[in-house]
Amino acid sequence: MRSVDNFGEPELEVALELIDEVLARGEHTSYRVLVAAGAGEDEPILGYVCFGATPMTETTFDLYWIVVAPLARGRGVGRALCDALDLHVRDVGGKNIRVETSSQTEYEAATRLYQRQGFRECGRIADFYREGDDLITFVKRV
Ligand SMILES: CC(C)(COP(=O)(O)OP(=O)(O)OC[C@H]1O[C@@H](n2cnc3c(N)ncnc32)[C@H](O)[C@@H]1OP(=O)(O)O)[C@@H](O)C(=O)NCCC(=O)NCCS
Repeated sequence: MRSVDNFGEPELEVALELIDEVLARGEHTSYRVLVAAGAGEDEPILGYVCFGATPMTETTFDLYWIVVAPLARGRGVGRALCDALDLHVRDVGGKNIRVETSSQTEYEAATRLYQRQGFRECGRIADFYREGDDLITFVKRV
């Protein structure tokens, strides 16, 4: 997480909080994490996706964070994590995956990944994060 240059301290703090929650509470939290790693025993972690059932919905999930280590990017790890997420959501009867992102250029890779994975923009709030930085909501039917 610390090698990701488009995350500031507030993003890092929230993302790490969710990981800590999963490590501490396992199945007893609604957050879930899938990790991508090499096949060998001491292979480093390449990336992860954190998601969870959206409160007050029956079949919708939120993708909260997806991160691939800078050195492992552009090799399909993000795609593999999204595919694994789809499988998991489908397995537990989920129908929609929602994800929110920023319109800033730092998030272009994420936006491209979501679009290539079949997410469609379904909403946008102008100047949400700060002037000129919109919140974009994407959704995918699984
Ligand atoms: C977004 C991110 C997870 C993508 O991971 P990745 O492993 O490099 O992505 P992949 O190699 O699996 O690429 C998946 C698709 O997205 C496209 N894509 C990925 N990065 C791209 C980029 N920088 N520019 C254009 N397209 C890009 C690929 O072309 C690919 O398309 P395809 O499936 O048609 O071949 C990674 O760039 C990242 O960790 N970014 C920083 C963290 C972040 O912003 N996370 C999102 C907010 S929580």
